[in-house]
Amino acid sequence: MAESARMVDIHVMGKHYQVPEGLTIMTALEYCGYRLIRGCGCRAGFCGACATIYNFKNDHQLRYDLACQKTVEQDMYLVQIPFFPAAKAFYSLEEIEATGEQVLSLYPDLVKCFGCNTCTKTCPQKLEVMWYMSDALRGDIRQVSAKSFDCVMCGLCAARCPQGLVPYNVALLCRRLYGRYLAPVSRHLEDRIAEIEAGRFDDDLEKLKKMDVRELRRLYAGREIEPAN
Ligand code: SF4
Ligand code: SF4
Ligand code: FES
Repeated sequence: MAESARMVDIHVMGKHYQVPEGLTIMTALEYCGYRLIRGCGCRAGFCGACATIYNFKNDHQLRYDLACQKTVEQDMYLVQIPFFPAAKAFYSLEEIEATGEQVLSLYPDLVKCFGCNTCTKTCPQKLEVMWYMSDALRGDIRQVSAKSFDCVMCGLCAARCPQGLVPYNVALLCRRLYGRYLAPVSRHLEDRIAEIEAGRFDDDLEKLKKMDVRELRRLYAGREIEPAN
């Protein structure tokens, strides 16, 4: 880090630190000496492990974000929520049906949603959480799947719901039901799976397993990429 980097003041769980500007919250925590065992996963905005709540010295409104994506700001007061104890229904996907009644029977507390929209305001992925909860209540599994597709399971919506609901687990159920029972069958995918099962790629896979990382990277960089349109 260049010595000329501008430093910003942050507070982690009440303790003051100065860190170089431009760091993500996650790298700033490490700069301060924290060893991240929980609350840290992909470091790329996909796994949802790094939910963070913060506000500012003279602005106490709570904000929500992913520590690996959000950069530090002057006078930020932050804390991480690496785990949130949330209710999760147990089911076997093979033994349930893709119906609204089924969703409601597994998550009967859905009816307690009173549309406050706190979950939507909390979501770092900017998802319409309240609306997908409303779709779940109406039994529209396809809409829940579409609206929640980018959910990273960070848990922040459940942490803030005044009714104790767990939107992300309801959405996960609906995405599973949609994928298993409602999504159109992909002929292309089925053909490819049949080819794999018939052993068409066995030799290629063996070759890949013997390559070192440099060779794999070169192969990956030179791969054929489908045109955007
Ligand atoms: S925060 Fe809870 S009660 Fe409010 S809209 Fe979201 S799910 Fe419903
Ligand atoms: S819907 Fe909930 S769990 Fe999913 S990304 Fe948004 S806040 Fe996180
Ligand atoms: S570490 Fe995976 S989303 Fe931040």
